[in-house]
Amino acid sequence: MANPVDAAELDGAFYQPADTFFQTHRGEALTYDDVTLATLYSDVLPRETQLDTRLAEGLDLHVPIVSADMDTVTESRMAIAMALHGGLGLIHYNMSEKDQLSEVSRVKNHVHGLIQDPIRVHPDQEIGEILALIEKKKFSFATFPVVDADNRLLGLLPGHVVKPRYAKRRVREALTPRNEVRTIHEKELIPDPIGRADRFFTEHPGIHKLLVVDDRDGLKGLFTMSDIERITQERSAQLKPARDSQFRLVCGAAIAPMRTKDGALDRDRILGHVGALVERGVDVVAVSTAHGHSRGVGEVVQLIRSAFPNLPIIAGNVTSAAGVEFLADAGANVIKVGQGPGSICTTRIVAGVGIPQFTALYVASRAAQKRGVTILADGGITKSGDIVKALTLAQGVICGGLFAGCPEAPGQIIEINGKLYKQYRGMGSLAAMKAGSATRYGHSSSDTSRKIAAEGIEALKEASAGLDQVLNQLVGGLQSGLGYLGAQTLPLLREKARFTRVTVAGMREAAPHDVVEVKTTASRDPG
Ligand code: XMP
Repeated sequence: MANPVDAAELDGAFYQPADTFFQTHRGEALTYDDVTLATLYSDVLPRETQLDTRLAEGLDLHVPIVSADMDTVTESRMAIAMALHGGLGLIHYNMSEKDQLSEVSRVKNHVHGLIQDPIRVHPDQEIGEILALIEKKKFSFATFPVVDADNRLLGLLPGHVVKPRYAKRRVREALTPRNEVRTIHEKELIPDPIGRADRFFTEHPGIHKLLVVDDRDGLKGLFTMSDIERITQERSAQLKPARDSQFRLVCGAAIAPMRTKDGALDRDRILGHVGALVERGVDVVAVSTAHGHSRGVGEVVQLIRSAFPNLPIIAGNVTSAAGVEFLADAGANVIKVGQGPGSICTTRIVAGVGIPQFTALYVASRAAQKRGVTILADGGITKSGDIVKALTLAQGVICGGLFAGCPEAPGQIIEINGKLYKQYRGMGSLAAMKAGSATRYGHSSSDTSRKIAAEGIEALKEASAGLDQVLNQLVGGLQSGLGYLGAQTLPLLREKARFTRVTVAGMREAAPHDVVEVKTTASRDPG
């Protein structure tokens, strides 16, 4: 090109759309840090951007972020927090099928702000017993619902009678009787439980606890005014929860390609378990394996698809166009892309296999477009800028390591030399495979005593802030990214993105340098 003077022509020559850029870089595989996005004219403020994404018919998220189906990342507590912030949690499968069903039920039955299992007392207990309970459990409250043996509401034990001077009295003598206790039927909570409870407290000055009952006057939960006030204050700052058509939080569950002793797919067990998950209201199942472009995974997806024609299915992992087509043809709606990019993965070192994530995403995205399916960028995301880059090609991202230090992730906090950590391990680590995930890596689950090659490590993550803070940082960065590209929505981001290659020196320039860092603010500050 001889001296281009036209601005658009000049920009276009250096900052290329995905197809041109990746064609130019054929033969070398790139990952997030190898590329950067060019800014474009913008009349979009970051806070005006919309992050909604449709992964499949019936699976819509307000934030395109999914927490990984790993046993140190997603159980019900994480899945609830993810959905409350507009994302999705995939419950891992390193637990019994029964336990996974309970975890899914916990998410689907969760009502934000509603204490679903409040501490109840019984009419024959003495006030002294209740005082001892408060002391032992260090409760900061002293008002309790009173129920009979069938959990039917008999009244409320008010805090002002839970005093040592009444220690010998029975609860039945001191309670406020049922007909004087204000309650609400659980059906009245739909579609906006917080709004309904908030209105109740405004309409009934002096009442600070609202009991929720069902048709048989069974106690279903309890709202406290202080919780509702906190939530309504936070609400304006909060991301919109991701819900199903019945206003329940969305939830996904991972499925292993379970096999019988002779190595054949255990069709009955797989279908039985998926059926039970569907009954509990699961929104999507994820057939999660290290090698999705394989006969076994294709058969599991086909099996589930033929039995559950409308159930969204995530399947993976793949890094090739043929892999995407294979899983799409088997019936998957959403394809997980990523082999070896994860922070705890050693697949590329152990097996010598895998593709740097950005090139894998490009190749997969083009095949996905053709087949009418979506893709999730799975693994290797360490900062919000990676999410922006991933979403120029994918409809959502999966994060493990970024969330593993949150209090919502399973596992205890460990203190080492005064610093706080949480365990984070690959599902292909020996410990995780022994706990059940061996089938994900193509090994038999009964075979873990034999020396099998681990494809993941056991690690620690520094204990981090709560998921709301971590997610808000990520979302803030994502919105900034959209703002810089003048893209109000994710489809516009995919359409507008222009790429250029970064050298090692360029990468060094991108991070803080030549300063003594005193405070690190992740993701938001464009510097
Ligand atoms: P990040 O980078 O978010 O990655 O921590 C999470 C993703 O890593 C994958 N994963 C593994 N890959 N060996 C692997 O090669 C493993 O042991 C392993 N465990 C998880 C998985 O796709 C997850 O979502």
